[in-house]
Amino acid sequence: MQSPDPHLPHALSSGPEGADAPAGPVRVIAVASGKGGVGKTSVSVNLATALVNAGQRTLLLDTDLGLANVDVMLGLTPTFTLADVFADRCELRDTVIECPNGLMIVPAASGKRHMTELQPSQHVGLVHAFSELDLDLDVMVVDNAAGIADGVLTFCQAAQDVIVVVCDEPASVTDAYALIKVLSRERGVSRVQVLANQVQDHREGKQLFEKLERVSARFLDVTLNYLGAIPRDEWLRRAVQRQEAVVDVFPSAPSSVAFRDIARRSRQWQSPSGARGHVEFFLERLVAPAATRGAAA
Ligand SMILES: Nc1ncnc2c1ncn2[C@@H]1O[C@H](COP(=O)(O)OP(=O)(O)O)[C@@H](O)[C@H]1O
Ligand SMILES: [Mg+2]
Repeated sequence: MQSPDPHLPHALSSGPEGADAPAGPVRVIAVASGKGGVGKTSVSVNLATALVNAGQRTLLLDTDLGLANVDVMLGLTPTFTLADVFADRCELRDTVIECPNGLMIVPAASGKRHMTELQPSQHVGLVHAFSELDLDLDVMVVDNAAGIADGVLTFCQAAQDVIVVVCDEPASVTDAYALIKVLSRERGVSRVQVLANQVQDHREGKQLFEKLERVSARFLDVTLNYLGAIPRDEWLRRAVQRQEAVVDVFPSAPSSVAFRDIARRSRQWQSPSGARGHVEFFLERLVAPAATRGAAA
């Protein structure tokens, strides 16, 4: 734990309150894209912050081990990161940071290129490591690396919902399609939320979605939902420079309004019927309070 004891995240404290808390299923939302630089981290940070502001106990997990930037985007200086967990220098719980607004963050490590070459067993190991955290959460937002590396696919498969971020560049659309294709064909993902980012207007967002939907409907067995669009917004860029979430620092900016709307709608998603493999089951258990884990506790 990186904060001193008085600031111990309430969700991690092991008191009777934590143990007795009702254990609703934790919603896991993975944010991914084919191409880099389209806005995954901006979306993850602001969606997670908007959820916290709406009273949801939220953990933001940065899994981009090659180019971590949740911590940079929020001006945090982590003592320990996921890289330290994999190097056996600390436990997963030592990496958890609680922001003043209550958002909990597990940071990754920037610039550790070799970390991007983790074995599939290590991804599963990470998923297991969460079972040692007695987290009392409503939502977990997972910020992913770009591309279709095994780790990205594992986290998307483990999540109840996947948000694929796309923007108006040919490479972004084709790479988003490639990601959706492999998620659908190889990982059994049957539903994807498409979020258009950096759009000029709503029409552009809708057109981007329709482009993806046409080709997916023709070749893939997957349902695409249009989650909406985030406008290209100078306030968001300023917030990034100030290392703060735009929804906190410029709450009436156009992108902040859009993020709050998306957070609100994400709370209405139904969990898909039927689990998508064991990793999803793990993630659900993982973040459940100890009291609900029975003999495993
Ligand atoms: N809606 C937006 N409006 C303006 N700038 C944006 C928007 N979304 C992202 N950006 C800019 O693009 C940069 C890259 O975004 P980021 O979220 O880091 O992408 P990714 O995580 O996909 O690589 C950000 O630093 C930000 O300045
Ligand atoms: Mg990123």
